[in-house]
Amino acid sequence: MRHFTSVHDIGDLHEAIREAREIKRTPYDWQDLGRYKTMVLLFFNSSLRTRLSTQKAAMNLGMNVIVLDVNQGAWKLESERGVIMDGDKPEHLLEAIPVIGTYCDVIGVRSFAQFESRTDDYNEIIISQFIQYAGVPVVSMESSAGHPLQAFADCITIEEYKTVEKPKVVLTWAPHPRVLPQAVANSFAQWTQAAGYDLVITHPTGYELAPEYAGHARVEYNQDKAFEGAHFIYAKNWSAYEPYGQILSQNRAWTVDERKMALTDNAKFMHCLPVRRNMIVTDGVIESENSIVIPQAANRVFSAQTVLKRILENL
Ligand code: CP
Repeated sequence: MRHFTSVHDIGDLHEAIREAREIKRTPYDWQDLGRYKTMVLLFFNSSLRTRLSTQKAAMNLGMNVIVLDVNQGAWKLESERGVIMDGDKPEHLLEAIPVIGTYCDVIGVRSFAQFESRTDDYNEIIISQFIQYAGVPVVSMESSAGHPLQAFADCITIEEYKTVEKPKVVLTWAPHPRVLPQAVANSFAQWTQAAGYDLVITHPTGYELAPEYAGHARVEYNQDKAFEGAHFIYAKNWSAYEPYGQILSQNRAWTVDERKMALTDNAKFMHCLPVRRNMIVTDGVIESENSIVIPQAANRVFSAQTVLKRILENL
């Protein structure tokens, strides 16, 4: 593997999940792979899990890690080509990216959707420039349209907890007070279909995901009906794809609660975190014994370590 930005970079997903579970059993067996190698983690946006789990994954492989919050202490970076740089951004990505590439062997980048242009966001103009100019492998730590390390961890978690070969997995929209990207929902839809699960997506009308991510998943607009017989409930808010970045509903009737979970086949509850309690999910559900949000977050180390191990093996 050279770069990791989507499910298309992982190859056989079940083989990757098998490898991740092996790494989870003996995480320090590959310490020599990363010796004298450096990873830079570059954050244009906030993070708790991605920052810590990716750093931990790199350290498990013996790598040195440098973390840079671009908006706290670094120069503000211009990304638009041809712009007259007379504003508040003193450095262009076109210089910053290759400079960072000289200091490290792998770069991880977190850069959310800008919501200025759907075309730019879905063309991944930031992470694409890193791939073009860094000269070293690039790992998406959540980009404009996808969060593949999260979706990989989600699939590892489903494999660990599933009780039937092909579980019914429900991705449900839930209300949120702010505009959120579609990245987590996009990748979850894409990866769970690649894993061969029975995916149902439920949301109010208008929240249809981009077709390239929704794939052939069934869409059920009645949330209760979608929950019937489910083995996993994955809650997430996202803003509309069309009209792009708009909040069309904040209907709290879509909050995941105990009544809806009772419609399922004793489903496990999942969320990528951070989660807004009693907006997305009730206290009762997230604190129930069926909630697996903590082991799900713990698996972020092993999705990242699998990806980094494969990149290091290819350097
Ligand atoms: N799930 C996730 O990516 O969490 P952070 O935003 O805290 O990294």
